[in-house]
This record gives sequence, structure tokens and C-alpha cells, in this order.
Amino acid sequence: MTTTISVIGTGYLGATHAACMAELGFAVIGVDTDPAKIADLSAGRLPFYEPGLPELLRAHTDAGVLRFTTSIAEAADADVHFLCVGTPQRADGLGADTTHVRAAVAGLVPHLRRDALIVGKSTVPVGTAHELQAVADALAPEGVRVEIAWNPEFLREGRSVEDTLRPDRLVLGVTSEAAEQTLRTVYERAIGSGTPVVVTDLVSAELVKVSANAFLATKISFINAVAELCEATGGDVTDVSRALGHDARIGHAFLKAGLGFGGGCLPKDIRAMMARAGELGVDQALTFLREVDDINMRRRHRVVDMATDEVGGSLLGRRVAVLGAAFKPLTDDVRDSPALNVAAQLQLRGAQVRVYDPQAMDNARAVFPTLAYADSAADALAGADLVLLLTEWSEFLELDPAQAGDLVAQRRVIDGRNALDTDAWRRAGWSYRGLGRPRMEPIVESAAPAAATELELVG
Ligand code: UGA
Repeated sequence: MTTTISVIGTGYLGATHAACMAELGFAVIGVDTDPAKIADLSAGRLPFYEPGLPELLRAHTDAGVLRFTTSIAEAADADVHFLCVGTPQRADGLGADTTHVRAAVAGLVPHLRRDALIVGKSTVPVGTAHELQAVADALAPEGVRVEIAWNPEFLREGRSVEDTLRPDRLVLGVTSEAAEQTLRTVYERAIGSGTPVVVTDLVSAELVKVSANAFLATKISFINAVAELCEATGGDVTDVSRALGHDARIGHAFLKAGLGFGGGCLPKDIRAMMARAGELGVDQALTFLREVDDINMRRRHRVVDMATDEVGGSLLGRRVAVLGAAFKPLTDDVRDSPALNVAAQLQLRGAQVRVYDPQAMDNARAVFPTLAYADSAADALAGADLVLLLTEWSEFLELDPAQAGDLVAQRRVIDGRNALDTDAWRRAGWSYRGLGRPRMEPIVESAAPAAATELELVG
């Protein structure tokens, strides 16, 4: 008999998980409280941008093995229930808002007619799973036993399908052998192809997730702190980073200095981790994360200051092209986007900002409706006094610097992601500023023959 899976919450995480579970051969029902989202998903339309996901969604909704509903009662018959709802930062503090995970459990459990396994995937403050078990125990119908397990998700937006189907590890936080076996069955294919499995208790599973994100955030802020030192000394952080990364104990990943981290996960997760440590009386253990957060936020101000400096000390009336609005490439997600934050700050300082992003325009407009948006990269560049690359989409990295140069008023670029081909832009007459790198002037081609002549003379 086909195992039926319910996925509660159908945002970036839940929609991906639902479609990937269908891809693995399960019958899946996705539940969300947002009727517009459910209408889209039911029709096989993905309400956000995620490479590779629309194809899976359409194939499995068409085949009838993946369906969506706003009624949590319809999920009650599933064999395994995955919790994929959001845990955003609380409006009144640094902690995570766990209202939605609680509401999901409280909404589902009274409808259950047989024993059930509820598996949390959302990122939660340590201790939440135990609290949810208490909620489930209190609300379970007579004779029904509900077990909460925690199976944190490590998928990256933009690569979520690949990360879900071929995860680099599986963490199973369980309180019974039966729960472990059920999860091993669900993930049979990945486990069969060698994915390591770490079986833990509930709190350790919760901690793995926040610790992973906090470590990644710390690594990024570390290299951005080095970038600050480079800016004070004339060093080049891209060279420092490249050399550091060759040490296998350090590695190249997440060691790219630039505008820093954003998105719906890293910023809120380090804050929630600090807040939880405070509640547990061990706040000192994580005070360094405040520095990690500060270093990260300083990068945004640094780019704004750099832009001000580049245009001669005042942004008033200056035309600035902002390339990028998403918090990173391959997503339309603008939650806590460093790019949009900088664009908004520039506008507040009086600049005429025009933003372009290949995928995130609608989301950007919804968050910052007063910014001006261009129809294309070329449109954003037209007449600009300064160009800022803030999200390293390949479309921007592949721009022809000579053609781009013909569109702007001044060939000045700030590369907030240290991602452009520096020499190509300089040879096309651009002055170049990266983060944590010395300012670089245009390369004048006639300099080469002059040098050759000098050599000939010496010879
Ligand atoms: C992050 C984690 O990487 C996932 O493992 C985790 O599952 C996910 O959060 C989550 O908690 O759901 P994601 O938010 O998609 O994934 O973004 P990342 O790829 O981690 O990038 C985060 C930010 O760091 C981006 O703004 C990116 O531009 C920035 N970054 C990344 C750097 O500034 N430098 C780097 O070297 C790498």
C-alpha cells in the first residue's frame, strides 16, 4: 500500500518537500491556510521561483498523486505528517515566532483517527518539539497516540529540489525505534545511495539545524571582518579568502566576502538562537553571534558609504543603477535582502535609484513600493552615475562591460559581491570597487605597448 504523506505549510520548504515526496513515489497532500497559494499549487502553478520545482509540481499534480487543500482535516488519514510552516522572527523581539507550528499541531491532532507520527522540519527554538508533544498529548482523541519527531531540513533556496532528493545528511530526532524506522522508510532512496543518517534525541536534532545556520553565518561574517581589515590596510580579501580556503580544515565554501548574508533563515536563526540561549540562562555562550550580526549589517552601510564616496560625497539627485533585489541568485526571495536594504538606504540619502532583478521584481515591489524599478538590466543602467551589483545573478556577471559602458553616464561600478570579472570591466573603462579590496582604476590599453618599448630599450 502506498504510504501517504501530509505536508503542512507550503512555502519554499513545504512545497518543495511535498513535490519531492511525490517524486519519491508517495501519495502527498499539502496543506496551507493561504487559499491563493493552494489554488495555484492545485493547478500545478508554483507561486514562487525555484529552479526545477515547477516541473515536479506539474507532473505530480497532473498524475493525481500530489494534491493540496486548505482543510487540515483532510490530512488526518496520512501515515506521516511533516510540519513545514514558517517560524519568522517575532515582531516584538529577537526570538522565533512558533505560533504556526503550534497551530499546525493543534489543528491536526483532534482530527486524527489512528496513531500518527508528526515530523517537524521547520527551524525551531530548542525545546519546541517537547512542547509540541505536550500539545499533541493534550489534544489527541481517545485511544490515539501521537509521536513528535524532528527531522531538520538543510535545503538551500535555488537548489532545493536537489538538496531534498539528494541531501548531504539526514538527521532523525526521534523518541522511539518505530519513528526511526518510519523515517528510514520515507528516505529509503537517499539512504540506499549512501546519505549518512544521524539519529538523535529531539533537542539535539533541533540544535543541529540552528547550529548549522549559525556556523555558516559566522563563517561569512568572519571573512567580512577580514574584509574590513583589508579596507583599512589596502589588502585584497578575495586573495586572502582564496588562500584560506585551500586549507582543507577551512574550505572555500561560505568564505566569499561581500554584502553579507540575508534571506529568511540565517539572520533570523542567529537571533532566535541567541534569544533562546538567553531564556535558558546561557546567553554568554552565544554573545559572539551579536558580533556576527553586527559585522553583517555593517557591510550594508559600508556599501552605501562607498557609493556616496564614489559620487563625490553626496547622493542627492545621483542616478544609481542597482542590479539585484533577491537576497541571493536563483531565488525570488527578498526577505531581509541586503540588496534591497542598500537600495532603500541610497534612496533615503536622496539618490535616484533604479532596481532590476531577473526574478524578484514583484516581491521587491511589494516590500519597497516606493523604489523605482527598471524593466531590464539595460534599462536600469541607462544614464546611471554609478552602478551597484548587489545580487550576483549570472545575467549580470555575463553583461558585456563595453556595452554596459555605452549605456551609463559614468563608468563606475561597485561590486557588492566581488563577483565581476574585474579586469574585463576595467579594460572597458570602468573604475571598480569591490568589498575588502583596493579601489581599481580603469586599465588603459595603450599602457602595454609603452611597457614593451621600455623593455626593448633596456634590452
Ligand atoms: C540557508 C542554509 O544554507 C540552508 O542549509 C538552510 O536549510 C536554510 O538556510 C534554511 O534554514 O532553510 P538559504 O537561506 O537558502 O539557506 O541561503 P544560503 O545559500 O545559505 O545563503 C545565505 C546568504 O549568505 C545569502 O545572502 C548569500 O548571498 C550569503 N553568502 C553565502 C555570502 O555572503 N557569502 C558566502 O560565501 C556564502
